[in-house]
Amino acid sequence: MEIVSGCTRRAIIKAAQALKDGHLVAFPTETVYGLGADARNEEAVNRIYSVKGRPQNHPLIVHISSVDQISYWGVEIPEYAMKLARSFWPGPITLIFKRSEFANDFITGGQDNIGLRVPSHQIALALIEEFYSIGGSGIAAPSANRFGAVSPTSAYDVQEELRDRLAHSDLILDDGPSLIGVESTIVDCTKHEPIILRPGAVTIEMIQFCLSQNISPWVEKNHVRAAGSFTSHYSPSAKVVLGSLAQTGDGFLAMSHIPTPKGAVRLASPTNIDQYAQILYGTFRSGDRQGLQRIVVVPPEGEGLAVAIRDRLKKAAG
Ligand code: TXA
Ligand code: MG
Repeated sequence: MEIVSGCTRRAIIKAAQALKDGHLVAFPTETVYGLGADARNEEAVNRIYSVKGRPQNHPLIVHISSVDQISYWGVEIPEYAMKLARSFWPGPITLIFKRSEFANDFITGGQDNIGLRVPSHQIALALIEEFYSIGGSGIAAPSANRFGAVSPTSAYDVQEELRDRLAHSDLILDDGPSLIGVESTIVDCTKHEPIILRPGAVTIEMIQFCLSQNISPWVEKNHVRAAGSFTSHYSPSAKVVLGSLAQTGDGFLAMSHIPTPKGAVRLASPTNIDQYAQILYGTFRSGDRQGLQRIVVVPPEGEGLAVAIRDRLKKAAG
């Protein structure tokens, strides 16, 4: 496995070719780092599952580079979904459609839906475009962590998670820390109305404004096989406890205006919600590196991105 920093044009070309040759390429996106494979190559996609230790029936998101490519992977695209795609792509939102004949079971986990996303990160977009230009049609990529663990927000995190499992010819593209820090918003677009399956940086308010309609509030339980909808997910090794009652030796994460309980180890003090999302997973990892048993977290209040943070915190606390 090679780590490529300072992603030049040459590096992008090499990475796209590696995908075409059936290797895995971990790459930065604006949300978290993804572990990519050629979405049409069954063997390569199967390696994603084995490297992650992810059950075969959990679908992967296919990353594409433009709205025009939706119709290759999806069918019966509703008008509201086109609106969402045009408004928020490239960006941190994944749209789920009824699948076309090209979206094989090995991508969709056997479901008849397919998740698509156009990321806004320049290197991710350049990689997808280059991959298309050499005959590819989309990069399947889950977050580049072991199943159930915290998503990586740096190339170092990817390396830490997957070092022992990636092969010699696989690549990790390094572009520093992820800007957003939590995974994309997921919207089910297979029904008459959009349904939010996972909250993210494209907020419920933004979606309602875009569609000029109220949508059902985000509900925690859904019937789709979404890996992130399991309870013990997005978890570090330390036990995550929500609240503000920390004991001596506990890690502590809260907004900067909340004081550190006596004896607790302050891990981070974000000053706003964007920053909270950005540092969340790195803070969990740092707690693990320090060997902490427990991390006490005061969830952020409010709407918008705070909803996504509280969702991940609840899941991390299992
Ligand atoms: O921000 C993101 O979405 C990142 C970056 C790399 O793009 N990707 C990511 O992928 O978080 P992953 O696989 O770790 O999480 C995607 C979630 C999983 O829970 C998966 O089961 C669900 O989306 N999902 C994917 N395709 C789906 C589909 N067709 N129907 C329902 N859920 C789907
Ligand atoms: Mg994931």
